Amino acid sequence: MRYEVDFLVVGSGIAGLSFALKVAPYGKVCVLSKGEAAEGSTRYAQGGIAAVMYDSDSFDKHIQDTLIAGDGICDREVVEMTIREAPARIKELVQYGVNFDKSVAGDRFDLHREGGHSEFRILHHKDNTGAEIERGLLEAVHNHPNIELKENQFAIDIITQHHLGQRVTKHTPDIECYGVYALDCRTNVIDTYLAKVTLLATGGMGNVYTTTTTPIVSTGDGVAMVHRARGVLSDLEFMQFHPTSLYNPAEKPAFLITEAMRGAGAILKDFKGNEFMHKYDKRLSLAPRDIVARAIDNEMKIAGVDHLYLDARGIDKNELINGFPTIYAKCLELGINITKDMIPIRPAAHYQCGGIKVDRNGESSIHHLYAAGECSCTGLHGGNRLASNSLLEAVVYAHNAAQSAIERVKTRTICNQVPDWNADGMVLNEEMVLITQTKRELQELMWNYVGIVRSDLRLQRAFDRLNLIFRETEDLYNRSVLTEELSELRNLIACSYLIIKMARNRRQNVGLHYSIDLVGENNERPTK
Ligand code: FAD
Ligand code: SIN
Repeated sequence: MRYEVDFLVVGSGIAGLSFALKVAPYGKVCVLSKGEAAEGSTRYAQGGIAAVMYDSDSFDKHIQDTLIAGDGICDREVVEMTIREAPARIKELVQYGVNFDKSVAGDRFDLHREGGHSEFRILHHKDNTGAEIERGLLEAVHNHPNIELKENQFAIDIITQHHLGQRVTKHTPDIECYGVYALDCRTNVIDTYLAKVTLLATGGMGNVYTTTTTPIVSTGDGVAMVHRARGVLSDLEFMQFHPTSLYNPAEKPAFLITEAMRGAGAILKDFKGNEFMHKYDKRLSLAPRDIVARAIDNEMKIAGVDHLYLDARGIDKNELINGFPTIYAKCLELGINITKDMIPIRPAAHYQCGGIKVDRNGESSIHHLYAAGECSCTGLHGGNRLASNSLLEAVVYAHNAAQSAIERVKTRTICNQVPDWNADGMVLNEEMVLITQTKRELQELMWNYVGIVRSDLRLQRAFDRLNLIFRETEDLYNRSVLTEELSELRNLIACSYLIIKMARNRRQNVGLHYSIDLVGENNERPTK
């Protein structure tokens, strides 16, 4: 089938849905989601969304906290713009129907604090803020007559001049996007979606790693598509590992223990129950995530154990149960009463700071292709994202991209010369094990060699092994019918390649990129 729309949105998390709602009054919008619409990182967000809402806080403080967490390599103008825009974007979320918790008197938002924040400034909905945001936005989208939301539609590739038979390289000027090819996962047919403007809002790539807090849909599809289309990507070496995922090895994705719990007073403890963060940073358990995750990793390695603890027993019992009901219930299910027992935790891949390089309007290097949310790289996060700045970035850039796209569609036409996907000559997939086993191998090699702590040798090993996996998988791709699983595996391989390549090029320990071979180098950043 061929479809034609004004605005095509790939992804139905906070970024895609916010953009869709903003552009909907100006044309026909189609939102594609590869699974159920609600499935994505957004619905799992716990802590909340950071914004300066009252005079007790200030833009300058939030800006400083973001710059410090980013380890000196954030784009300062982007940081200032994003943080100053935050209150306006929060108001819009509330207008769409999203409920944030209020104080007992009901006149102010109840604000939490998380690692790296000098003030209480996290708006939240108990400990399941993302689920509330996703609910509110989806409801607003379903009620809009101009938006069609299509589930189980897997975007495979961005359509560019390459599909018109022209040679496109990364040096080709003026690469243009005409839409996407997408696999209808119910019929296995590959459809052609043509659009005047396309937004990628495909989320993160946590599944590059064995242990991740991100859902199974986070396979870096947007980044991989832009890589294949020869667009510009940036900062992919900065994979953020959340310090405190619940240690429950069989569970995928790993359940998160929000940083807001440390903001409320929970303390990190080693395997014997002793505090250890004083050895690493004077901000103790509330230091930025890169520092805390490395400290935990180091303590686990020293003791030869596979988890440490978070001790929340010092928090008032009512505050703990009522403020963190989801975590309380989840732990209880596993026999852990968090008012009495310490919570076993370990770090997990959580957030990709890098991605599709975009300008202030959210436009990528490929014309008429925008990106917002976790798949994009705006410059806000630098070397390490400050907690709860991700949902914020997504709404700010969805807004900016929408303003630009609304103008763009006025002068754009649909490209009718695009051919349909050619699936001739393909045979049915061979055994699934070829895909599942390769995915496991890939995740393990990334976890072991390209994780929290890296070295030149580990990166070289990862690169060599990845090469073999890449060749085997491309061979399979060239002779098989395309499936969602195979497509995701190719995307994970592309993302792994980019992470390794950018990690090898970064000859400085900064933010989340830490190599033992760069310790003590002149270019090493001072310890904070
Ligand atoms: P997502 O919400 O991940 O949505 C991606 C969408 O893209 C999905 O609809 C998916 O189906 C679709 N998609 C992907 N690939 C394709 C494809 N090929 N074809 C079609 N559709 C596709 N950040 C904060 O700021 N505060 C928090 O408290 C917070 N807590 C978090 C807790 C957890 C457990 C996790 C995992 C993350 C948390 N984050 C938090 C990070 C934040 O939730 C995410 O960065 C953010 O929600 C990403 O939103 P998004 O719209 O970019 O993508
Ligand atoms: C958390 O609640 O700890 C996650 C916050 C975030 O990822 O920003």
